[in-house]
Amino acid sequence: MSKTYHIAIIPGDGTGPEVMAEGIKVLKTASGRFGFKLDLHTFDFGGDRYLRTGEVLPENAVDELKKFDAIFLGAIGHPDVKPGILEKGILLRLRFELDQYINLRPVKLFPGVECPLKDKIPKDIDFVVVRENTEGLYAGAGGTLKKGTPDEVAIQESINTRKGVERCVRYAFEYCKKRNKANKLTLCGKTNVLTFAFDLWERTFYEVAKEYPQVKADYAHVDAITMWFVKNPEWFDVIVTDNMFGDIITDLGAMIQGGMGIAAGGNINPEGVSMFEPIGGSAPKYKGKNIINPLAAICAGGMMLEYLGEDVAGQTIEKAVMEVTGKHINSLAAGQMGMGTTEVGDLVAKLAVTI
Ligand code: IPM
Ligand code: MN
Repeated sequence: MSKTYHIAIIPGDGTGPEVMAEGIKVLKTASGRFGFKLDLHTFDFGGDRYLRTGEVLPENAVDELKKFDAIFLGAIGHPDVKPGILEKGILLRLRFELDQYINLRPVKLFPGVECPLKDKIPKDIDFVVVRENTEGLYAGAGGTLKKGTPDEVAIQESINTRKGVERCVRYAFEYCKKRNKANKLTLCGKTNVLTFAFDLWERTFYEVAKEYPQVKADYAHVDAITMWFVKNPEWFDVIVTDNMFGDIITDLGAMIQGGMGIAAGGNINPEGVSMFEPIGGSAPKYKGKNIINPLAAICAGGMMLEYLGEDVAGQTIEKAVMEVTGKHINSLAAGQMGMGTTEVGDLVAKLAVTI
């Protein structure tokens, strides 16, 4: 009997539903070819639901989502909702409550994609960032005093626990070993200034490194990393870092791989339910025009299949996307692809059965 995967779909806001439709189209094609079944359930979480009901996430949402094998998310962010409400109330809440402690972000330059870095080609840009996803500055620790007065105090603390750091570092070593490319794991930190937090990270990193003699343990300060992403991206294989630094360097990573149109990520709980998403956001100005690039959502779908154990299906989707970037699409930018959102989805779906 073929395997059935139960997937929760959260199309979300803006162009989220449009890119998700293409992502789902490709997933369905892959399921036909590779002999697994998909059982999809859509949830209407997002800005429109919030504006209609006043509720960001329903009471039982997290428990409901825990019943699925994975979550496929479009985008969260609505122009009529104050920034922060939906991001914190949906995206961050799900990451935290589902304990998705890894944010996995591949940075890979696909063939034919215009790279803003001079003289860099696909073989130079192919690394993965493992971002801690539940602690650090995102933990919400801190507070304000005398708000709105000249004596106002604002404190935002970075929480780093031995358990949280160690499980992230272990995941990164394991991932690097399995990837078996350059077998190099770089800790991205700021040990020269953040002497409490990154002391914990550094000690944990080198302790765990002893269990992975086949992986070269390397260190770089976050400011230097931003320089080297631009100057020598070929130096990197896998990078592990905290939540805030990871947020920042993965946006830079998305730019050097050709932009948000192609950047996908996974919020992973290796022991629980993981959530896959294009990282570009809801792009409301492009909504409903059939001009947004669906490739990031399609790649996120491919990552989800690999995570579920359908490695060949996931790799085939990536190959089909590479064929599209290399031979068919003019640009990754919205409105400049030379074809519409649905046509790009059709093309990947077609290639995913023939390639
Ligand atoms: C990301 C996003 C989120 C983050 C926002 C939308 C809360 O930028 O996934 O990187 O900061 O983590
Ligand atoms: Mn971000």
